[in-house]
Amino acid sequence: MKNSTVENKTLNLIQEKLSAGRLPQWVKYDPEIFELEIEKIFSKTWCFLAHESELKEHGSYVTRYIGNDPILVTRTKTGEIKAFLNSCTHRGAKLCTADYGNSKNLTCPYHGWTFNPDGELIGVTAGNRIYGEEMVKDEWALRPVPKLDRYAGLIFGNLDSNASSLDEYLGELKWYLDILVSRTDGGMEVLGAPQRWVVNTNWKVTAENFCADSYHALTSHRSTVEMGISPDFVSQAGFGYQLSLNNGHGLNLVLTPPGVEGPKYQGLPEELWPMFERNLNPDQLQFLENLQVHVGNCFPNLSWVSIPQSTGGDSITTFLNMRVWRPIGPDSIEICSWVMIDKEANEEYKKEASRAYIISFGPGGTLEEDDTEIWTRITESSKAVMARNKDLSYDNVLNYLMGIDRVMPIENFPGPGKAYPTWLLDTAIRNFWEQWLKMLQEN
Ligand code: FES
Ligand SMILES: [Fe+2]
Repeated sequence: MKNSTVENKTLNLIQEKLSAGRLPQWVKYDPEIFELEIEKIFSKTWCFLAHESELKEHGSYVTRYIGNDPILVTRTKTGEIKAFLNSCTHRGAKLCTADYGNSKNLTCPYHGWTFNPDGELIGVTAGNRIYGEEMVKDEWALRPVPKLDRYAGLIFGNLDSNASSLDEYLGELKWYLDILVSRTDGGMEVLGAPQRWVVNTNWKVTAENFCADSYHALTSHRSTVEMGISPDFVSQAGFGYQLSLNNGHGLNLVLTPPGVEGPKYQGLPEELWPMFERNLNPDQLQFLENLQVHVGNCFPNLSWVSIPQSTGGDSITTFLNMRVWRPIGPDSIEICSWVMIDKEANEEYKKEASRAYIISFGPGGTLEEDDTEIWTRITESSKAVMARNKDLSYDNVLNYLMGIDRVMPIENFPGPGKAYPTWLLDTAIRNFWEQWLKMLQEN
């Protein structure tokens, strides 16, 4: 690994400012910080790869990334899910370039070495003539991702073979994630293939937006409220909770205030309701019953939003959108975005859920466009002399003070972690940045 050029005293200065609710703006665009993040964060944490419903049959595969590493995820003959570095063991060519597909074997386009979904090398062009019968093919199998695990159908990989378990890593987040992904008997399924697009911003800008910046909905997304296609989070501002969880995870639960009419169970189809009652505990069920928006981030770069949207007329449809902010460079990300719904929802509802996603959080969706514009503006203004000064001589720090030392966690909250009585708060964002800094400081 390359030695980082970011000095300890620089990281200590970030620490000092962050403890006081301020963040140096230069961290939102810095090539050296970016290198350090790849080395210290993306090669050490559990990163989301795929949902198991994308890999239905033997031979199904999808191609994804962990940080900058191209990853191939496959379903084997015995039904196992495996993940490998998507790179041929002969000369290192990227083996598979399709987003997804199904194939008994994958053949490298350079010299034709062929691998099966178990990653085994099963064919070498003119093998016996070139390498002789003594070639040990087992030595040249695809290189597996050191750690691979699943939670409620969500497949994660980790490049660090000494990492603690996925279960431990998700920790307190599981209780809240279950409200979305473990509420029905069959779990979730991905509708179609995930969409991918590139945005000129930094992965932390988008992660913090989903982690705990529901504040922006009051301004950035006000037009969608005025058009009647989003819930009225303007007049109901702050009603609900913000959760600050271990390992830097965070989320907001936007709830319907008492006395206000809101769709029960986010307007999800009634045939699912008995399953919610069966699969969730009474506290989780109550949150789902009054839920409007569930939005959050699993550190570092897996975010989600579940939100009821109008697709025209009075009909309200809810979907779960999960997305990975793939770090391409300090000012570039690729968004990989999945739309999911409960497997047992009726086909008509699934179609509507897909439509509701496309018009709101798809690459050309109303809310997505609101956000994209702002994310690129943040990056543009964070790239030049004043914002990038590491000595902070232009006082180039940003405000992360909302609720600091003023809003305290709720005692005896039914779920784990620290829960705060409003989502107009910077607490979970500070928790995200503290985890980020802690990982950068680790040897
Ligand atoms: S690089 Fe793949 S067969 Fe040569
Ligand atoms: Fe937004």
